[in-house]
Amino acid sequence: MKVTPSGHACGAEVTGVDLSEPLDDATVSKIRAAWLEHHVLAFPGQAMSDDDLERFTLSFGPFGEDPFIAPIPGRDHIIAVKREANETAPVFAENWHTDWSFQATPPAGTCLYAITIPPTGGDTLFANQHLALEQMPDELRAKLEGKIAIHSARVPYAKEGVYGDADREKRSMDIRASDEALTAEHKHPIIRKHPETGCEGVFGCVGYIVGIEGMSETESMALLAELYIWQTRPEYQYRHKWRENMLVMWDNRSVLHMATGGYDGHARLLHRTTIGQQRKEF
Ligand code: SIN
Repeated sequence: MKVTPSGHACGAEVTGVDLSEPLDDATVSKIRAAWLEHHVLAFPGQAMSDDDLERFTLSFGPFGEDPFIAPIPGRDHIIAVKREANETAPVFAENWHTDWSFQATPPAGTCLYAITIPPTGGDTLFANQHLALEQMPDELRAKLEGKIAIHSARVPYAKEGVYGDADREKRSMDIRASDEALTAEHKHPIIRKHPETGCEGVFGCVGYIVGIEGMSETESMALLAELYIWQTRPEYQYRHKWRENMLVMWDNRSVLHMATGGYDGHARLLHRTTIGQQRKEF
């Protein structure tokens, strides 16, 4: 197995392994170590079925809980991230976030397998949140130290939210906005140790984060905006370019990510699973 770093703030390409076959323990350990080091791993040239995607995911932990998006027919844990060629709905997930951070135990990782990839556009951006913290000015870090963020699903997934009732007709993805998004809320420290490596990083960003404990809305939004500008700086980013039959797995505890558009007139389809958290917090 060969791991080639992207040369950017995170990300590496992994070759010399066949993900359509069950992986032995030694290979899983090597992939896990590379994942913890590079935070985003891309495996090009993998002809994978949905069974293969599920088996790969389960090599790294249990399935995560995926609310608000219906699974594809016949599967409980695979969702389709898709956009039709003629679709007019805004690109799904075109904003920085870490997956399902409003959960008490958000998924450790996400696996995304490329089935149909447009000829241009549709890249995924990642931002390394360990590096963002390491290089953060002391003044900003002092403002964030010890602060607890309130994460909520309501902005995207409430019925009046971004993917709510008004959006549904235009979108091919089967998103099920619901009142549950109004109560799907959890608190996490803004600066926290990675549960497996102990390495400190920033967890989450404004969007799913709707406030900071003990601060007024005005104060917390000002601080979250200052943090957002810092944590998404270009030098912390890696732009991932997709190819069909490529699997990418990323570490939600280490990176933010966002989809990008630029492929109107072309279809894009990927199958996604999440890896639940299986290790104890530091
Ligand atoms: C996601 O956030 O899961 C989707 C990313 C993408 O479509 O590039």
